[in-house]
Amino acid sequence: MADNSATARSYQEEAHAIHARDVHFDFSSVPMHYIPGEVLATHVTNVMHLVLPEGERAMAACLAEALPHIDDERLREEVTGFIGQESMHASSHEGAREHLQSIGLDVESYVAGVAWLVDRLLGDQGLSGRAKEQWLKERLGLFAGMEHFTAVIGEWLLESKVLAELGMDPTMLDLVRWHGAEEVEHRSVVFDAYMHVDGGYLRRARTGLLASGTLLPLFIISTAYLYRKDPSRDKGRSWARQFVSATVRGVIPSFTTFVTEMPRYLRPGFHPSQLGSMDNALRYLAHSPAARA
Ligand SMILES: [Fe+2]
Ligand SMILES: [Fe+2]
Repeated sequence: MADNSATARSYQEEAHAIHARDVHFDFSSVPMHYIPGEVLATHVTNVMHLVLPEGERAMAACLAEALPHIDDERLREEVTGFIGQESMHASSHEGAREHLQSIGLDVESYVAGVAWLVDRLLGDQGLSGRAKEQWLKERLGLFAGMEHFTAVIGEWLLESKVLAELGMDPTMLDLVRWHGAEEVEHRSVVFDAYMHVDGGYLRRARTGLLASGTLLPLFIISTAYLYRKDPSRDKGRSWARQFVSATVRGVIPSFTTFVTEMPRYLRPGFHPSQLGSMDNALRYLAHSPAARA
């Protein structure tokens, strides 16, 4: 039996409340390579517009399914706020994707494929009874694992100075930073929902490993696809050299994150509140142009 005492929390004293912000982005003047001179890094960022919205929708649906199993009132409030935030992320990235599509990045069939796959792999599968409950717990574990990476990458986006120094388009920079900040803000919600509904360590470890093992290839395959689909005649140096250069200069998060983060996530006493400070995230959210619009 797993001992959950280290990581299952009561919410009665949790003061900060998660809520969805009504954000507005105007993508109309965003160029194809919105990180100037960084074709590959732009497409690594584009994966967020392509793949994340479908995953975020599946996650929001799963958490909505978990709500009846959560009797802690504060945690229910957090989960409800989380569902609102993830739905807002999905629609905002979709706006960015539609704009990129309109200026020549044709990704419609890929997005339809991702939507189909996410639905098959992470949907409710039409189960009932005990199988339905087990599948809910399994998905909560998987999404808790994925949210670990979105929180870590969100923190990176907030702290990285390079993107602004390179002159990244301000609307896109605000989009990824607003999203990153909310990922940091709600980093504990799915983990806590998992701990509340299941809480077993073995499932948490197994699904965490599965999440990291799925996200890395998904990022690589999607970036390669986007780079190929980019209709620009001059894409600069080879993608491999751009990848190495962007990693060394810190223009993209290190891909090894998906491996190096696992020991921390797998610690039996781990809780997402042990990740970095939340101050940066809350400060950004107070000033984000889209959140203030
Ligand atoms: Fe999100
Ligand atoms: Fe999230």
